[in-house]
Amino acid sequence: MAILVTGGAGYIGSHTCIQLLKENYEVVVLDNLSNSSPKALQRIEEITGKTVMFYQADLLDRQAVERVFEENNITGVLHFAGLKAVGESVEKPLYYYHNNITGTLILCETMRSCGVKTLVFSSSATVYGTPERVPISEEAPTGAANPYGRTKLMIEEILRDLHQADSDWRIALLRYFNPIGADESGRIGEDPTGLPNNLMPFITQVAVGKRDKLMVFGDDYDTPDGTGIRDYIHVTDLAEGHLKALEKIAAETGVKTYNLGTGFGYSVLDIVHAFLEATGVQVPYEITDRRPGDIASCYADPSLAEKELGWRAKKTIRDMCCDAWRWQQHNPNGYQ
Ligand code: NAD
Ligand code: UFG
Repeated sequence: MAILVTGGAGYIGSHTCIQLLKENYEVVVLDNLSNSSPKALQRIEEITGKTVMFYQADLLDRQAVERVFEENNITGVLHFAGLKAVGESVEKPLYYYHNNITGTLILCETMRSCGVKTLVFSSSATVYGTPERVPISEEAPTGAANPYGRTKLMIEEILRDLHQADSDWRIALLRYFNPIGADESGRIGEDPTGLPNNLMPFITQVAVGKRDKLMVFGDDYDTPDGTGIRDYIHVTDLAEGHLKALEKIAAETGVKTYNLGTGFGYSVLDIVHAFLEATGVQVPYEITDRRPGDIASCYADPSLAEKELGWRAKKTIRDMCCDAWRWQQHNPNGYQ
């Protein structure tokens, strides 16, 4: 009995593989390595002392996906594989729709034909668009502002339709807020290619001397210090949320939607200060224009996940900064 982790070599998938192996699940990873390194899988094995069955394959390759199911006794799927760069999705919408949506369709069709109907999907807080109010609960209106976000919304709808047509499906839609940090070993972490889009990898790259300074995108938002507020969640807490979701859907059929966030919002400058306090490293910054498409404030109401999954984020912003820094310091060039 094994769990298939699509995108298991990537940032969140690799951390979730560690949690699965620690809980004695058998793990099969399918990843095309388009945004990840096979070294992540080696290190997962080093950290846990357990092995991972790895298929370097594309979800768009139906035969390859079928082979993974034929060769393993898969009982459930954690589906992380997807493209995730918002800006790139605006430039290459068809690439995003094809990869994320067609990939999910091929996965679900294969699962159905093999009688595997347990699926945890990586959705995103981006499905809330510009929230009317914070904290954001799962009932809040949805509406994505870019093709990446629309792939998440469309896949959520597809999975609801799938369950509508066949009530045997057991599906969890997990809407992540802002995952940061790294495994406390410092051996695996986030390894963006090129210029990081996201705040924490940018901060750690400035701290390690790879970049001169952080550009803070706007200080004129309607927030206490004028910079954007987000709900940063430690990737290990997020990974644990997946195991809880898997247990939940193993116990009951249906489609469940959960926010995975801490419920606390931190501004960009809060994070810069927290990073200094946690690591002793001052990150120089400059205030620049707002980034198009950014919103002022976004943080979760995570109470449904606590009530129904018995899960809540435990790690602090200090843990997130220390662990992200340990990973970056020990691996200044990521997995290269
Ligand atoms: P990531 O890029 O590190 O991991 C995704 C993995 O999927 C990569 O290893 C990539 O090689 C693989 N992949 C992509 N397309 C594939 C395909 N067609 N076939 C096989 N493998 C493929 O990203 P991540 O940060 O770990 O994100 C994982 C999931 O969580 C994604 O679906 C992402 O959209 C979602 N998510 C991420 C964030 C975030 O801030 N990191 C926030 C919300 C949701
Ligand atoms: N920011 C900067 N400078 C940077 C990078 C980011 O000031 O160099 C600011 C942003 O303006 C924002 C905050 O830091 O206020 C967080 O930005 P991120 O890019 O780290 O995260 P986002 O909230 O914009 O988006 C992330 C993922 C999305 C996902 C969303 C879910 O990138 O894919 O979280 O909430 F959909």
